[in-house]
Amino acid sequence: MRISGKARLAGIMGWPVAHSRSPALHGFWLAENDIDGAYVPLPVRPQHLEQALRALPVLGFRGCNLTIPHKQAALSIVDCVEPLARRIGAVNTIVVGPDGSLEGRNTDAFGFYQSLRAVVPDWSAKAGPATILGAGGAARAVIAALADAGVPEIRIVNRTLARAQAVASDIATPQTSIAIHKWDEAGAALRDAGLLVNTTSLGMAGEPPLVLDLSVLPRSAPVVDIVYVPLETDLLGNARRRGHPIVDGLGMLLHQGRPGFEAWFGAPVRATPQLRAAILATLAPPR
Ligand code: ATR
Repeated sequence: MRISGKARLAGIMGWPVAHSRSPALHGFWLAENDIDGAYVPLPVRPQHLEQALRALPVLGFRGCNLTIPHKQAALSIVDCVEPLARRIGAVNTIVVGPDGSLEGRNTDAFGFYQSLRAVVPDWSAKAGPATILGAGGAARAVIAALADAGVPEIRIVNRTLARAQAVASDIATPQTSIAIHKWDEAGAALRDAGLLVNTTSLGMAGEPPLVLDLSVLPRSAPVVDIVYVPLETDLLGNARRRGHPIVDGLGMLLHQGRPGFEAWFGAPVRATPQLRAAILATLAPPR
C-alpha cells in the first residue's frame, strides 16, 4: 500500500462497520493498481451521519460507501441523488464533487446485474418472468436492475405483502409488470420462471433456513442467492443438484464496489478470480 501526503481518501460509514469487507475489497484494488490512496472503516453513529457526511469534503475525502443503518437516511442529507438511487430508496455510494457537494448513488443494482452476467453470460431478460424472494432494500436494487434490463414480468414473493406492494409501485416501469405473491405461494411463483433470486436473509449463517421446493422451476433458470455466508446456501446447493446455473452473493459484493472505486480513485477495476479468492479468505471462519 502506498499512502503519501497527497493520498486519495475514501471509506465506508456504518454502525457497526467492523464486519464490512469493503476495506479489504478496495484495499485489494488500491494495491493492484499501485494507487496512492486509502479506504478506511468509518464507524459513524446514526445521529452523527449528517455531520460525518458534511465532514467528507472538509477532510479531503473523495467520497464513501454507506452500509447499515445509513443507506436510507443519506437520501435526505446529500445535495443531489441520482434517479436510480431515488427509485431504489437507498444510497450506498457518495461522491464528493469538486465544489464539495455530495452526490448519492446506488451501485447495488449494477452489482447484481454484473454478477449475474459474469456467471450466466447468455441469460436473457426475455427468458421468462423473474421471481424475487423478499422486498427489503436488497430486493429493491435487484428489481430495479431487472426492470431496467427489460424483464417483462417480475414476481415478488414476500412475507409482508404491504412491503412488496410498496416496492412494486416505486419500481415498476411501463415495460415491466410486477405481481405480488404470498410467502406460502412461493412454489406457484416459480412456475415458468426464467430467474429466481433470494434477497431475504433466510439461509444466512445464524438465520432460519430457506425451505423452497424448486420442482416447478425450469432447469434453465439461473438461481441467485445474495447471501454470501455461507457461499453455497441450501438454496444454491439444491439448485446446483437440479442442474440450474447458480450465482452466489459474493459477486454482487465485488461488482457493487467498482463504480465507487472508479469515481474516487480514477482507475477501472474488475472482479477477478484473484479478488474473489482474497475476499473469500476474509470470510473463512477463524480457526
Ligand atoms: P435488506 O436491506 O438486506 O434487504 P431488509 O430490508 O431487512 O434487509 O429485508 C429483509 C427481507 O427478508 C424482507 O423481505 C423480509 O421479509 P418482511 O418484509 O416480511 O420482513 C425477509 N425476511 C426476513 N426474515 C424472514 C423470515 N423469517 N421469513 C420470511 N421472510 C423473511
